[in-house]
Amino acid sequence: MELDARVLDMLQQVGMRRSQTVLDFGCGYGAYTIPVAKIVAEQGIVYALDKDREALDELMQKAESAGLKNIDRMETSGELEIELADESVDIVLLFDVFHSFYFPQAEDRRRLLGEIHRIMKPSAILSISVWPNLIEPEIEDEIKNADFHLGKEVSETLTDDNKHPETRRVLIFRKA
Ligand SMILES: C[S@@+](CC[C@H](N)C(=O)[O-])C[C@H]1O[C@@H](n2cnc3c(N)ncnc32)[C@H](O)[C@@H]1O
Repeated sequence: MELDARVLDMLQQVGMRRSQTVLDFGCGYGAYTIPVAKIVAEQGIVYALDKDREALDELMQKAESAGLKNIDRMETSGELEIELADESVDIVLLFDVFHSFYFPQAEDRRRLLGEIHRIMKPSAILSISVWPNLIEPEIEDEIKNADFHLGKEVSETLTDDNKHPETRRVLIFRKA
């Protein structure tokens, strides 16, 4: 399967659908933001949040080239508050960002999870993946302690040449 098709398949397994409102927290250069924008289509919206201006610039250029108008750039200074309304988001992606490298302090992780919980609709999904294939066990516990429960788990095979494929876990949480 082509890389793009594999990403689309994984996102659909996560629960991504047309018309949804999605927050891609720590979106980087948009490896997921762009496919998400294609899935949610014109009726949906993707908030692309990052503190890296250069990454966001490149992402927005890619979006423009692809003719995607449903990506809302959210450039931050790395603060943990999220400027979105309570219960306004269907899916939050925390892909390769919610780990001790970016958030070494447990208190910061707790505050961010609180913000994410606040903006999620009651039926919303929080999807977390960590490169290369494991989520730190204490962080998985922290997520559960922040009033989320683990639903299903999806795996994603990375690399497009299949010579050295790696599988990573994509965990899907819902509000408890
Ligand atoms: C390893 S990249 C992952 C990018 C993308 N999610 C992916 O999986 O391809 C992590 C990104 O998280 C961003 N990031 C880290 N801490 C952040 C914070 N506190 N607020 C906003 N963005 C943050 C970094 O700037 C970087 O672009």
